[in-house]
Amino acid sequence: MRLTTIAASFALAAGMTSAVSSAVAADVEVLHWWTSGGEAAALDVLKQDLESQGVGWKDMPVAGGGGEAAMTTLRARVTAGNAPTAVQMLGFDITDWANEGVLGNLNAVAEEENWDAVVPTALQAFSRHDDNWIAAPVNVHSTNWVWINKAALDAAGGKAPETWEELLAVLDAMQANGITPLAHGGQPWQDATIFDAVVLSMGNDFYQQSMIELDMDALSGEKMVEVFQRMETLRSYVDDNFSGRDWNLASAMVIEGKAGMQMMGDWAKGEFLKAGQTPGEDFLCIRFPGTQGAVTFNSDQFAMFGQEGDNDAQQKMAAAILSPGFQSAFNVVKGSVPARTDVSDADFDDCGKKGMNDLAEANEAGSLFGSMAHGHAAPAAVKNAVYDVVTQHFNGGLSNEEAAEELANAVDAVL
Ligand code: BGC
Repeated sequence: MRLTTIAASFALAAGMTSAVSSAVAADVEVLHWWTSGGEAAALDVLKQDLESQGVGWKDMPVAGGGGEAAMTTLRARVTAGNAPTAVQMLGFDITDWANEGVLGNLNAVAEEENWDAVVPTALQAFSRHDDNWIAAPVNVHSTNWVWINKAALDAAGGKAPETWEELLAVLDAMQANGITPLAHGGQPWQDATIFDAVVLSMGNDFYQQSMIELDMDALSGEKMVEVFQRMETLRSYVDDNFSGRDWNLASAMVIEGKAGMQMMGDWAKGEFLKAGQTPGEDFLCIRFPGTQGAVTFNSDQFAMFGQEGDNDAQQKMAAAILSPGFQSAFNVVKGSVPARTDVSDADFDDCGKKGMNDLAEANEAGSLFGSMAHGHAAPAAVKNAVYDVVTQHFNGGLSNEEAAEELANAVDAVL
């Protein structure tokens, strides 16, 4: 039989199987938390890419920004002996699962595609474990961004804030203009996303000491008290209905001009783009005032759970994710930047170009740090301890001094 005939009969067999069952051998079941409009649009790029390569998609969405709910579902699935084939995962969660010995091995595809040479080392720290590739990075997001409605900024004086004082002046002017100055959703991971940026605004060394090294003096000291003072000040610009609001609804407030700005990772840009808005014209992206030159990053990766027998679909998915064409197409829509160093920025908008440039510069300058809020500074136990204290304080349950002391205690308790 000629090769083409063999291929055709395989295709026929696969087609017949898929007519009777949605889960053919070449399916991947993908657990993820990309459920907002912008996220779903980006996910579609991945889905279509895989389908064009004959890899079927079984969707397992678990709503909830930041992925906490998705990780709870994952734990339940693994405990029940029914792990999904591919799972969206962040930083230290990947390491934690690798330590449990349940992740599949992507070495074959990684070697063939030369991932070593093109994936930034800051990401490899999580994609590799004991010299094995265990996850395929999709993107690099960063958390120290502010998304501003352009018309609201023009009405508030027109100058994008570069310092804490300028930020407060713009927020005051927006308040005086009768809109909600700061769009925010009161959920622990969102409070913690702002906290990332505020800690970084107190200095790169301070972020390094407190969030990466978990130094007790930095966690409980004067500077941390000042961080909580700033959080308390920002809290005063949030509307009364902020509790529990999803992050994309906060983005919508800015998109619609009901609010002036949102402090959020660059997945927020996906919402602005989905709403047909253009950076520079309808909205601005700036680094959180006082953090210019530094980047707190997180990277969505797909970890593959070990499968019995052939893992062809997983390998194909991993190869597709790292292909330069996909990295550009996906990240243009998602708001993130490529997880490879050799992808052109030609198709990216101004915020995307700035994101790529900032990342490269911060990496060079030693001012690229893992995001605490998004699982890249410390393992989940520490992250959750930080969430608890930051949220309790944000809701008025702790004074600034108490919060700093409690932060050190809570982190210490889980180390
Ligand atoms: C993920 C993003 C996602 C965001 C909001 C972050 O932790 O890295 O991909 O869009 O959460 O859901």
